[in-house]
Amino acid sequence: MPAESTGVSRRRLLLGGAAAGAGAAVTLGAERTGLLPGSPAPAADATGINGARIVPFHGARQAGVTSTPGAYATYLAFDLLPDTGRDRLAAWLRLLTDDAARLTQGRGALADLEPELAVRPAGLTATFGLGRAAVERAGAEAPGWLGPLPAFPQIDALEERWSGGDAVVLLHGDDPTAIAHLARMVVRDSRAFATLRWRQNGFRRAYGTDPSGTTMRNLFGQVDGSTTPKPGDEAFDRAVWAGDEAPAWLRGGTSLVLRRIAMDLEGWDEVGREGREASVGRRLADGAPLTGGGEHDAVDLEKTDERGFTVINPAAHAARSHVSDPGQGIVRIGFSYDDPVEEGALDSQGRPAVSNVGLLFGSWQRDVAAQYVPMQERLAQADLLNTWTTPIGSGVWAIPPGCEEGGFVGEGLFA
Ligand code: HEM
Repeated sequence: MPAESTGVSRRRLLLGGAAAGAGAAVTLGAERTGLLPGSPAPAADATGINGARIVPFHGARQAGVTSTPGAYATYLAFDLLPDTGRDRLAAWLRLLTDDAARLTQGRGALADLEPELAVRPAGLTATFGLGRAAVERAGAEAPGWLGPLPAFPQIDALEERWSGGDAVVLLHGDDPTAIAHLARMVVRDSRAFATLRWRQNGFRRAYGTDPSGTTMRNLFGQVDGSTTPKPGDEAFDRAVWAGDEAPAWLRGGTSLVLRRIAMDLEGWDEVGREGREASVGRRLADGAPLTGGGEHDAVDLEKTDERGFTVINPAAHAARSHVSDPGQGIVRIGFSYDDPVEEGALDSQGRPAVSNVGLLFGSWQRDVAAQYVPMQERLAQADLLNTWTTPIGSGVWAIPPGCEEGGFVGEGLFA
């Protein structure tokens, strides 16, 4: 069966269309995948390998928010086609939800021509987010904060090609092949509804390199993420989940801010270890505060040295970003990027660039205006790290709650 006609069958199925179309897609699914659609996911096999690890897709929350970030991430941003109105938007979200619900559970998508790529999800998750335009197309109420962040002229050098998007999909997991396959299904099944605006890939340490639970290191070599609330923490729940203040469709969901932040490794090379540690207020060796304690202890911003100066520079990154109640702050989810050097690019010293690295800085928070913006404003005003970091991309999306089997992410918009 030619790919085009299988695509049509599949759309019919998901749009609740002709039974013949549905039959064709089901047959194709069984024929090609050897797994009947709806058949149980293969159990983690006896080898106990990480590739067989499955993070449940259905539930009250989107699993990519509540699970530990995988070793690899791909963000895909889309712009809606002009004729993607309310009904087509719902059909698109239903289709993508179906892909994610299958592939994250180790099953091929409907009409998946490479279903073997799905059998090792390795903790794969898919998280869907919507920008203001998508919410408005659905005819639903958008929260006030849904839209571009205010400008931070002191630091921003934003580029269109890394910014915005009417919708975003974040895939993370421990295997780049599983991610690539789901990304391909998502992009393929979006063609009739939206255009791909940009794609950004990031990574942490490969699975198995560190004991699980080890905080990541960014490409400046810093332990990054020590103090951020983790799923299961009481502060995580307070920081992340939208409540009654949000439109009904978003309650139990959250928001995502993504900043692509270039890191100037050549400039960083010029700084000694002491200066590097002072710029954040934490030790490079283990991430512990310069005021003492262990990695997960808070910085003591009042502690002074024998000369009466605070041990932690008031302009240090941790001092400027700190909030006393983590439930009022943000939850950070970072991935490094290390991309090819672009033609003609120069480094901060004016030489031909030899690196193009940075951080895909993501954060979850229930209210972008109340939690993210004031923190970013403080960092834009003063933060020693700004010497070597430059935000070059930015986007904000509402992250609806999860869905149960048979439902789809974002269904509340159409209630
Ligand atoms: C490339 C850019 C950035 C780098 C390299 C970076 C690095 C770090 C490092 C090494 C720490 C200390 C360890 C930890 O607690 O995780 C930290 C803490 C923190 N960062 Fe960043 N960061 C960056 C951007 C941002 C941005 C854009 C924000 C928010 C707008 C932010 C918010 C925070 C917060 C809230 C903390 C915890 C502070 C505390 O309470 O001790 N960071 N960051």
